[in-house]
Amino acid sequence: MKRYVVTGGAGFIGSALVRRLLGHGGGEVHVIDNLFSGHEKNLEDVRSKVELHKLDIRDYGGVAAAVAGADVVVHLAAIPSVPRSIHDPVPSHEVNMDGTFNVLRACAEAKVRRVVYSASSSAYGDTEVLPKVETMLPRPKSPYAVQKLTGEYYAGVFHSCFGLETVSLRFFNVYGERQDPSSQYSGVLSLFMRALIERRAPTIFGDGEQTRDFTYVEDVTALIWKAATVPGVGGRVYNAGNGDRYSLNQVWDSLQKIEGVSIPPKYGEPRGGDVRDSQADTTAARRDLGHDPQYTLDQGLRRTLAWYKTQ
Ligand SMILES: NC(=O)c1ccc[n+]([C@@H]2O[C@H](COP(=O)([O-])OP(=O)(O)OC[C@H]3O[C@@H](n4cnc5c(N)ncnc54)[C@H](O)[C@@H]3O)[C@@H](O)[C@H]2O)c1
Repeated sequence: MKRYVVTGGAGFIGSALVRRLLGHGGGEVHVIDNLFSGHEKNLEDVRSKVELHKLDIRDYGGVAAAVAGADVVVHLAAIPSVPRSIHDPVPSHEVNMDGTFNVLRACAEAKVRRVVYSASSSAYGDTEVLPKVETMLPRPKSPYAVQKLTGEYYAGVFHSCFGLETVSLRFFNVYGERQDPSSQYSGVLSLFMRALIERRAPTIFGDGEQTRDFTYVEDVTALIWKAATVPGVGGRVYNAGNGDRYSLNQVWDSLQKIEGVSIPPKYGEPRGGDVRDSQADTTAARRDLGHDPQYTLDQGLRRTLAWYKTQ
């Protein structure tokens, strides 16, 4: 029986991935999570089928014990926020860099067959050219971007120096069910969803014309599964976006139309470390991994909104 370990599996993307792994059947699913920003309730309906190791990825011994015997490890645990890495850089450095090193080291020791690492489109920074392609020189603009990029470099080096099969996926603004809207550091679409349901104006930092490649979480977990299983891609880095880009103003307009309301947003000062535009070139992921996003932004927004309304 295959054994899958998901670090950060009680978080937003992790809990969706756990459901996908269980859906494929025939495998054991383990989660490593210290519940820093994840929640046990994200796994509520599948809790009896999952082994939850409540531990911190900075604890090497704990991680090594939890990944022993794993076939595939998907490393999602992180403090995933650009502004948080600026306001409080030490924990984010320790978790995103030292924690990632621990996970890779433990996986190499345990001879895990494949590790999928959650890299970030923030590594690109502001580039003159769109869409952003993996061959571009990264230009990280925040501690978070440096940390995620370093994890990616480490994943590559663990492949070349220690023979660990790693695949890094650069996620681009993922949204969907169970994204936590409760903090100032939450993803923008989760904050939009909450504001819309509460019939409040959201705050947009900057003029709202910044663009993002919003990717629905089910498309991301489908790609993670491919990255975990497709042969011959060890050591590689792929964009995991949808290939489109929409401004924050456009997305808020779409949400208002879906709900049939008119609520002008508030605008705040632009935030340091944020990139202006983001859009993935998905050619390599389509070619090598069979990436095939299924959800348009409108479909993803409707599904996500329907879920938030049940909460
Ligand atoms: N959501 C996005 O748009 C996006 C974009 C690019 C990259 N990513 C990356 O994807 C991954 C998952 O992000 P998410 O959006 O699901 O965020 P999330 O905050 O919902 O999930 C992160 C999980 O990691 C756990 N965690 C944090 N510190 C830990 C530690 N020290 N030890 C063990 N567990 C710890 C949290 O409790 C949480 O469950 C992160 O690595 C993030 O950097 C996300």
